[in-house]
Amino acid sequence: MQAKSRIAVIGAGLMGHGIAQIFAVHGHEVGLLDLDGAVLKKAIDSIRANLTLLAENGIGKAGDIEPAIDRIRATVDLEDAVSGASFVFEAVAEEVGVKQDLFRELDRLAAPAAILATNTSVISITEIAAKAGMKARIVGTHFWNPPYLVPLVEVVPGDSTSGQTVDATYDFLKSVGKHPVKVKKDVPGFVGNRLQHALWREAISIVDRGIADAATVDEVIANSFGIRLPVLGPMATADMIGLDLTLQIHNYILKHIERSTQPAPVLRKKVQDGELGFKTGRGFQDWSKERMEQCRSRLVKHLIRWNQEHGDG
Ligand code: NAI
Repeated sequence: MQAKSRIAVIGAGLMGHGIAQIFAVHGHEVGLLDLDGAVLKKAIDSIRANLTLLAENGIGKAGDIEPAIDRIRATVDLEDAVSGASFVFEAVAEEVGVKQDLFRELDRLAAPAAILATNTSVISITEIAAKAGMKARIVGTHFWNPPYLVPLVEVVPGDSTSGQTVDATYDFLKSVGKHPVKVKKDVPGFVGNRLQHALWREAISIVDRGIADAATVDEVIANSFGIRLPVLGPMATADMIGLDLTLQIHNYILKHIERSTQPAPVLRKKVQDGELGFKTGRGFQDWSKERMEQCRSRLVKHLIRWNQEHGDG
C-alpha cells in the first residue's frame, strides 16, 4: 500500500459512499461531505453493511471493517472535508451549475497541489471546470455503480487538464485496486456511457416498435453476445469475424438502426405516467418487491463472484 493520503469525497449518496469506502479500505483518511446529515449517517451504515457482506464472501476481513470506518470523517463542512486532502472526488447531483459552483469553491478551499476529480456520468469536464481558476488540476474520474465492486474508472481530461494530473490520478486509482483507463478526449458520455446508451437507445426502440417485449430484449442479450462481452469486446469481435463481413453487415443494417437524437416517445410517456421502474413497481416491466429483491441479489452475487475470481475492488 502506498503512503497514506488524505482524500475528500463530496456527496455521500449512492456513489459517494461507495467511493469513500474504497479509499478507507486501502488505508487512506477520508473526509466525507454531504449537505444532509441524514445522508451521512446512512452512508456510514451502508459502508458497514457493504464491508460485512464482502467479508462474508471472503473479500476483506471482518476485523478490518471498523478500522476502515474509523478512517472516514463524516462532515457537513466543506472546508473541514477538504482540509489536507491530496485528492478531492466530487459525487454530487448531476447538474452542471451545481458542479461548476462546487469546483469554484474547491479552488479556494482545497490545497493548491490537490487534484480535483468529478464523478459526472456524462457532462463535459471542460464545462464543469468553467468557473474554476486552476483548471489544470481538474479531471473526470467516472466510477461505475457499485464503485467498490465494478473495477473500471474512466479518467477523462478536460481541455485544460495537465498530463501530470491525469497520470497521478490514474496511478492513485490503480493503487486502490481500481481498473483505470485514460480517455483521450473530453466528449459527453466519455466511452462507457456512449456505448451503453447506444445499446439502450436501440433496446428501447425495439420495444417501442413492437419488435420484441422488454424481457425478450434482455433475454437476447444475456444469452448471446452478453456472454461473450467480458472476454471479447466489439472491436476484437469485429477483427475476429473479419472486417470485410463487418462492412457487409453495416452496409445493410445501419440504415435500419435507431438514430434519433431525442429520447424515445415510450420512455417519455412512461415517465409522464409515473411508471419509473423499481421506484414505482412498474417500468418497462412489472416489478413486485420480491422480484426486485431477487434481481438486486442476483446482481450483487454476480459482482461478488467476479471480484472473488479477479480482484482487489
Ligand atoms: P445521489 O443523489 O445518490 O447523491 C448525491 C448526493 O450529493 C446527495 O446525497 C446530495 O445531498 C449531495 N449533494 C447535492 N448537492 C451537493 C452539494 N452542492 N454539496 C455537497 N453535497 C451535495 O447521486 P449519485 O447517484 O450518487 O450520483 C452522484 C454523481 O455520480 C452524479 O454526478 C452521477 O451522475 C454520478 N454517477 C452516478 C452513477 C449511478 O449509477 N448512480 C454512476 C456513475 C456516476
